Amino acid sequence: MEFSIKPGSPEKQRSGCVVVGVFEGGKLSAAAQALDKAAKHYLSDIIAHGDMNGKAATTLLLHNVPNIPSERVLLLGLGKSTEFKDKQFLDAVRAALRAVQSTGAKDATLYVTDLPVTGRDAAWCITQTVLAAFETTYRFDRLKSKAEKNTKGPQKIHFGLIDGKQNTILKTTLEQAVAIAHGMKLAKDLGNLPGNICTPSYLAAQALTLGKTHKSIKTKVLEEKDMLKLGMGSFLSVTRGSDEPAKLITMEYQGGNKKQKPIVLIGKGITFDTGGISLKPGAEMDEMKYDMCGAASVLGTLQAVAEMNLPLNVVGIIPTCENMPSGTATKPGDIVTSMSGQTIEILNTDAEGRLILCDALTYAGKFDPDTVVDIATLTGACVIALGHIASGLFSNQETLAQELLAAGNQVHDRAWQLPLWEDYQPLLDSNFADMQNIGGRAGGTITAACFLARFTKDYRWAHLDIAGTAWKSGKEKGATGRPVPLLAQYLINRAAANN
Ligand code: BES
Ligand code: MN
Ligand code: ZN
Repeated sequence: MEFSIKPGSPEKQRSGCVVVGVFEGGKLSAAAQALDKAAKHYLSDIIAHGDMNGKAATTLLLHNVPNIPSERVLLLGLGKSTEFKDKQFLDAVRAALRAVQSTGAKDATLYVTDLPVTGRDAAWCITQTVLAAFETTYRFDRLKSKAEKNTKGPQKIHFGLIDGKQNTILKTTLEQAVAIAHGMKLAKDLGNLPGNICTPSYLAAQALTLGKTHKSIKTKVLEEKDMLKLGMGSFLSVTRGSDEPAKLITMEYQGGNKKQKPIVLIGKGITFDTGGISLKPGAEMDEMKYDMCGAASVLGTLQAVAEMNLPLNVVGIIPTCENMPSGTATKPGDIVTSMSGQTIEILNTDAEGRLILCDALTYAGKFDPDTVVDIATLTGACVIALGHIASGLFSNQETLAQELLAAGNQVHDRAWQLPLWEDYQPLLDSNFADMQNIGGRAGGTITAACFLARFTKDYRWAHLDIAGTAWKSGKEKGATGRPVPLLAQYLINRAAANN
């Protein structure tokens, strides 16, 4: 799919399909008014006859509208103009994209930047429409013996601009949105791949490919023997039961000057989480192939950053392995020594994410980071707390927390902050080691974050628990590509603040 910005009024466009908005009650958007005027009230007559009432996310496709050079006009219902916010805009745009995709139009020109979304500007409308276009056309059919043909629908999408003044800024916005969408696609593809294909070695190969495609990215892969030398006893305890070799992947993107401290992103890369000896119940266990979505989001974000050429230094770190039961697997009660020197009593082998992350967090210190953000499908408790809408956010520094929350709000990939208070720390006390790896059922998301906090004392750090947001279950089962938008937007904002 190709995207472009097309200045000019809609009645002058020669397009396969022009899309304009109508509010409930028949009020026309600015673009719809221009069309209606040129078409001598053809549109307002149709509305008056009751064929389009402007109800939210409804559409009406018209052919051969008088005096309009475009082949089709799609009227898009927007709902009540007083209630036109993020969700209403997104629902409407998805409906429009689906409607346009079911036509034979070769291209479509969308007038979305003139829609008055409360608190949002033209750039926001463009970004969200690009992300929605990728979302509605995404298929993961490479493992079906016959690929489902998806050739229908326009290959080109133009953003019509009645007011051409913002043209140059919006061009950058558009390019960045496409880079984010590509990053999300990479994250989704990796997430959706099954555990027998997407192994730690497969993720390492993907990271090496990213380094080959982008000169600005240098990838290195550490093997188990290297991790042993580094003293990563915690990480290695998780992979003990698996026949697949664990990998520690680092990807260094250099877009700023050498001296600039990097922002480090760490992604949990459990390519399958059986729970280990503390075996998970069978129902929906297949979804634990998604336990590497943190890693996938790091790969997707680094790709986006490279595609955008952001003037920043970013390091991606991915600890990746399987969590399997076997005769060599770690047992409940086993005590291991982490790279930091702190000892951990493993009371539940299913709390493995924190065990691989803690060593990666210590390793991150080697990069003298400005900021470290880890991203992990860490706890089922986070799904209970926040559902599938918001990711859980924790930070040891309030400015960083606010910046990440703001980035998420900006790009509609939202997070919600939870407390990291010291008062929770005693729940991790162990009789036999420096700490235990679980804190009990109550506040399970918080105690998991508190565990990680014990390894991040030397730098500014935030943790995103994406257990509820990285994939969808049920009929629409599939990876979402989150939180690539949040992370990419945060980095865009950081780059802008530097310059
Ligand atoms: N990968 C899971 C977390 C998870 C579970 C994410 C379900 C999404 C859906 C993680 O490794 C895990 O098993 N966590 C345990 C921790 C517990 C043993 C303290 C959990 O959440 O049950
Ligand atoms: Mn687990
Ligand atoms: Zn897990």
